[in-house]
Amino acid sequence: MNQPVVIDTKTATPAAPPLAAIAPQKAQAGVLSRCHNIADLREASRRRLPKGVFEFFDRGSEDEIALRGNREAFHNVKMRNKVLVDVSERTTAATLLGKPATMPLAIAPTGVAGVCWFEGELALARAAAKFGVPFTLATPSLSTIESVAEAGQGARQWFQLYMWRERDLSHALVRRAQDAGFETLILTVDTAVPPVREYNRRNGFSMPFTMNPKALVDMSLHPHWLFQTMAPHYFKYGMPRLANFPKDGGSGVANKPGRIVNQRGDNLTWEDVKFLRDMWKGPMMIKGVHLAEDAARAVTEGLDGLVISNHGGRNLATAVASLDVLPDIKAKVGDKLKVIVDSGIRRGSDIVKALALGADFVLSGRPTLYGASVAGEEGALHALRILRDEMDSTMGFIGCNNVSEIGPKAVWVPKA
Ligand SMILES: Cc1cc2nc3c(=O)[nH]c(=O)nc-3n(C[C@H](O)[C@H](O)[C@H](O)COP(=O)(O)O)c2cc1C
Repeated sequence: MNQPVVIDTKTATPAAPPLAAIAPQKAQAGVLSRCHNIADLREASRRRLPKGVFEFFDRGSEDEIALRGNREAFHNVKMRNKVLVDVSERTTAATLLGKPATMPLAIAPTGVAGVCWFEGELALARAAAKFGVPFTLATPSLSTIESVAEAGQGARQWFQLYMWRERDLSHALVRRAQDAGFETLILTVDTAVPPVREYNRRNGFSMPFTMNPKALVDMSLHPHWLFQTMAPHYFKYGMPRLANFPKDGGSGVANKPGRIVNQRGDNLTWEDVKFLRDMWKGPMMIKGVHLAEDAARAVTEGLDGLVISNHGGRNLATAVASLDVLPDIKAKVGDKLKVIVDSGIRRGSDIVKALALGADFVLSGRPTLYGASVAGEEGALHALRILRDEMDSTMGFIGCNNVSEIGPKAVWVPKA
């Protein structure tokens, strides 16, 4: 797993002259060689990021029951050896929405990834392009739709939409994504209301970024991040703000420091899904489904896929784990649309478990965020390699040469 580390100093080099003297991000290269799994990357990320930023990325909501449940659900499913099978030709390659990828995984949309690394969204897009998996850009990103499209250099990119109250503004964003060449639209439907995340208030963390005594102390205690991420961003773009949001706000889409961003419409309905389905030319999915009846409706609305997700335990605080509702949803929709799972994937074997229980592929959020916050593009690549290598190993043990051979007999699920 000790890959040679290549740091893209172009993305790391600050634009303004005073920052030229700042230590290059190569300083992080040694860190990656000590990260052998996603938990190691998480720990390295915790050390580099200010507490407010790290907790924003890492934690859940309220008492974090969903967050813990995500890992428990994967831990509860066990696997069976399949012996005496020639697995010397195995591959993790997969087809995602009709096109090839190097593994059955796409990078999930994670808002404000640009806070974890200078131009973090571009780093993630480049890593995904190099590795051969799709990257999903979140609506609340610090990089523009167009700059991410350029960084992805023609590789597969998906766009995630949070619908604003002002539908026209959201539809304009969707048009921009389409024009920029984004392939798939993911409409997030599990965020009708803002979640309760008390730690952000305790830490003084908010987006748009506001300077307050707590945040200032926190940042100054993390000089690597301050000089390699925050300072270059400030000198190139100013204070971190949501790059695709309207500049001067509007009701519900404020984007000024100190104002609450109430970006998600609590009046989103299937009518919006219909409208977007007509508008978007490529594949379209909804993200955040738990009920079989909603999955059935997704089929009748002509969607290409749905993501079973509890937002990584960040929204509905006591939400069910995706893995636990996957079999019901799969039983309801069969192969009528793609069934995707996210929330809690930290090992390659977790991907195999999801596939064995009926998922077509998975989304993964924090693993590449941890990687990117340690070493940008190379760190995100490191996370992807870890997951791929672990998945490859698991496939070898369960006697599978390709992902289509992964089925229910590979797993043991405790009786309810
Ligand atoms: C820091 C962070 C920001 C996120 N922002 C968004 C977002 O803007 N839109 C969205 O649909 N999901 C967002 N998510 C949820 C992810 O898309 C995904 O569902 C979740 O991360 C999966 O869980 P995992 O992190 O355990 O892989 C975010 C997740 C994290 C960790």
